[in-house]
Amino acid sequence: LYRRPHALVASWSADGLKVENYLTGRLATVSPLVLQLLDGLDEPHSHDEITARFGALSDRGTLVDALIASDLLLEVDSVADRRDAQLERTWRWPHAARYFHFTTREVDYSFDFEKQRRFFEEKALRDPPPSCFKEPRAGDRGVQLAPFSADDPFFALLDRRRTCRSFAQRALSFTALSQLVTATWGVQRYYNASVLDRRVIKRSPSGGARHPIEAYVVAVDIEGVVPAVYHYDARDDTLRYVAALPDRDERIALFGGQWWVKDAPALFFMTAALPRSMWKYDFARAYRVVLLDAGHVGQTFHLAGTALGLGVFTTAALADPRIERLLAIDGISETILYAAAAGFAGSHDNTETD
Ligand SMILES: Cc1cc2nc3c(=O)[nH]c(=O)nc-3n(C[C@H](O)[C@H](O)[C@H](O)COP(=O)(O)O)c2cc1C
Repeated sequence: LYRRPHALVASWSADGLKVENYLTGRLATVSPLVLQLLDGLDEPHSHDEITARFGALSDRGTLVDALIASDLLLEVDSVADRRDAQLERTWRWPHAARYFHFTTREVDYSFDFEKQRRFFEEKALRDPPPSCFKEPRAGDRGVQLAPFSADDPFFALLDRRRTCRSFAQRALSFTALSQLVTATWGVQRYYNASVLDRRVIKRSPSGGARHPIEAYVVAVDIEGVVPAVYHYDARDDTLRYVAALPDRDERIALFGGQWWVKDAPALFFMTAALPRSMWKYDFARAYRVVLLDAGHVGQTFHLAGTALGLGVFTTAALADPRIERLLAIDGISETILYAAAAGFAGSHDNTETD
């Protein structure tokens, strides 16, 4: 038995009408007649029943097989069918958010800085980059502000924060890890907003106080902690075992090939438990809020790590499916968004590389 997936989006491209299963990543260029066929297939039908719908078409059996092969029809009870049903059950946000999220999970990254530099130098000659500043309109009046004082310890900290891309092979103390994790992802306090909603307050703002961001610690070299992957349970500040420590090559692969995390004594994965946000906001725009939340947590991580004298790094260039397998999360109700590393800055100074 086969049915039409929920995760389908159709659009026209230069090649014609493209129908895409955004959950599996498969797509096909089809005749508009195929849409009419799919229209009646939200309920399961047998292969013969579906073939019969094509009427007189001579190669109709092959066409149905092609639709199955490109996941425009899903076999009932297959992995793809079950994931599609789970998506439909879990995601209260419509296609606008789903499509962006699921079609951007995997990117081929290149971290050959030398090659990248040459590429952008050439590109800049052909196609100069836009200015980092907005030009005022002619005649606009303004007021020039006074510079802030770095004598204040907080402003000095802001000034010290830098992305670190070189880590020394040196263990992180248990205290430093505890401070970094609890300051960044820990609970500051609880308050009762209503009987339904015992709210959590953390050290980063969160849209609707939903705090969808969860943290996992890859303890590579932490004094007193068995090297492994742990989930940080913010209720009691406890690291709970999730998986064995991935080896150095695998850690680099999880970070999309960013080799400078190889010696970092602590890596962190930030996932989003999306139903927390969807429960309160069922419109697609709330997806933006989850991404913004992750950014705030990232900045808190940067500042806490800097205050502890550590080199810190955050990245969105990740091998999502690999990380989700490692963390044993489904990628639908809980999904990887952001990752980080902390340790002692190494000797190789590539902090200016972007
Ligand atoms: C959302 C986000 C994603 C980033 N992803 C990467 C990345 O994939 N690789 C990387 O080397 N740096 C990454 N960075 C770091 C930026 O390149 C860095 O912040 C920028 O070069 C400015 O340097 P600074 O942080 O020292 O001010 C990311 C930063 C942010 C905020």
